[in-house]
Amino acid sequence: MAVALIPGSFDPFHNGHLAVVEVAARHFERVVVAAVRNPGKEPLFSLEDRELMLKECLHHLPNVTSRSFSGLVVDLASEIGVTAIVKGLRAVSDLENELQMAQMNYRMSGIDTLFVPATSSASFLASKYLKDFARGGRADQVESMVPPPVARRLKELYPTGEHPIHHETGGTS
Ligand code: PNS
Repeated sequence: MAVALIPGSFDPFHNGHLAVVEVAARHFERVVVAAVRNPGKEPLFSLEDRELMLKECLHHLPNVTSRSFSGLVVDLASEIGVTAIVKGLRAVSDLENELQMAQMNYRMSGIDTLFVPATSSASFLASKYLKDFARGGRADQVESMVPPPVARRLKELYPTGEHPIHHETGGTS
């Protein structure tokens, strides 16, 4: 059976991630989406919350399951017995890191990485910016860029209404 693993921080999961999962779900018999703890990043959502959000966002895809994992992606991939690791690519800038990671993962485990290009409507999406805008009072606008369970969490965390206007103070002009 062809099985794909899609790992990521997913802090939080957004519509660009969803598009990649949907492509993989069409080409693999089974897809496992895993929220992985990335020690290099301080997350907004706990690993448990991210796993729960994945489950809520992906329940419409019958051949997709989700989970969380603390450890190396290759160890999870070997444990599951995947055919390939699948990653989304938004732009050439993503490729540099992802290529190195794919080659390192291959050298460590013999597991291939396949890349899925982002859809043009989602190629600008990044969890980091979605969080910045939600935090800045625009969770209502971020809503169209994330699945409903994520939009709900962001609105709970950062209630919207008035968009705060931040004035620089102390300037001379
Ligand atoms: O870009 P993301 O979403 O933060 O990716 C996170 C992750 C862990 C999927 C990515 O960094 C990756 O594939 N890393 C490979 C090395 C690895 O296994 N890291 C796990 C934590 S040490």
